[in-house]
Amino acid sequence: MKKVVLAYSGGLDTSCAVRWLKEQEFEVICFVADLGQGENFGEIEKRAKLAGASKIYIQDLKDEFIQDFIIPALKADAIYEGKYLLATALGRPLIAKHLVAIAHKEKAQYVAHGCTGKGNDQVRIEVTIGILDAKLQIIAPAREWEFKSREEELEYAKMYSIPVEVTRKKPYSIDMNIWGVSIEAGVLENLEQEPPEDAYLITKSPTHISTYPKYIEIDFDKGIPKKIDGKAYKLEALINQLNEIGGLYGVGRSDLIENRLVGIKSREVYEAPAATILYAAHRELESLVLDRELAHFKEIVALKYAELVYYGFWYTPLREALDGFIEPTQRYVSGKIKLRLFKGSCTPVARKSPYSLYKKELSTYGKEDKFNQKLAEGFIKIWGLPYQR
Ligand code: ARG
Repeated sequence: MKKVVLAYSGGLDTSCAVRWLKEQEFEVICFVADLGQGENFGEIEKRAKLAGASKIYIQDLKDEFIQDFIIPALKADAIYEGKYLLATALGRPLIAKHLVAIAHKEKAQYVAHGCTGKGNDQVRIEVTIGILDAKLQIIAPAREWEFKSREEELEYAKMYSIPVEVTRKKPYSIDMNIWGVSIEAGVLENLEQEPPEDAYLITKSPTHISTYPKYIEIDFDKGIPKKIDGKAYKLEALINQLNEIGGLYGVGRSDLIENRLVGIKSREVYEAPAATILYAAHRELESLVLDRELAHFKEIVALKYAELVYYGFWYTPLREALDGFIEPTQRYVSGKIKLRLFKGSCTPVARKSPYSLYKKELSTYGKEDKFNQKLAEGFIKIWGLPYQR
């Protein structure tokens, strides 16, 4: 019998995919990646078996996700189209990597995923599979099956007693991991309408929360966050903690009309409290310790880095080369940033670093001033010289 390893989430699409693949005479092995989506994996396992899987792998990949994907993106300050901190996009190459590894272990010639033919995730997963093992054959049931609508798919699920109640309640398509939540479809497709509160999963409404701000302090060591309010945390706990605090203050929501890889514009709503806080703090610290030319050049790299992540080009020479550039820029990114969280905003308000390039005796207008203003005259003449006729 032909064997296929399917990237399985426990949702409607991948559950129907199990059944559909069986109908095409495959033995179906499910692979569930735990990236911190906070699911009940016992329940997911049951569902996979009910749908017809012969075997299921559930792997906790949180640590690898944080160390190898999230931290590099944070060091890069990568952000797509000004608003998206890339939670979903960063997870896909990691899922694909393990999908390939399990296929090898199981000696399967086929791998499958539940992504539709309209999104970015099919691209990211398949590009990665192709890079890691171009001989594996890829099946995307959702691109092939004949359901004309969600309703038809639900009918199919009912016919095979695939449990669907969870999916029927939530009128959105949601992808979640420890770095953030991506929410689309349903009423969000109406661009003229503000996203309703029920679209958000992990943040409180900024208008309904405390009238007092909350201050927090984050410590970094070489670009990596280490402490909250002076207390050391492991990265996973640190991110969870910031998701919780940020969420309470409505921090990290964004609403973006984004350019997808397949040429479609789509609206996606994001929640990323921890990522938003950490990006703000990290960039603030960089502004203190990086010299001007490096800081400016790094912004260009950040744009490119975000594109590569969004495009599914994680396992590429350019991404690796950019990491090679970014790593040494983090040598002095150590110190503390204090931030104010207030009604959805997250604002750095104070900063301190042993590697600060700020020299008060140069910038002050007070009497400690050591800046020799006479030097400015010659500097300006030479600076503007190229433009004089
Ligand atoms: N638009 C985001 C991206 O391309 C998220 C995709 C998944 N979104 C979802 N709601 N299922 O990375």
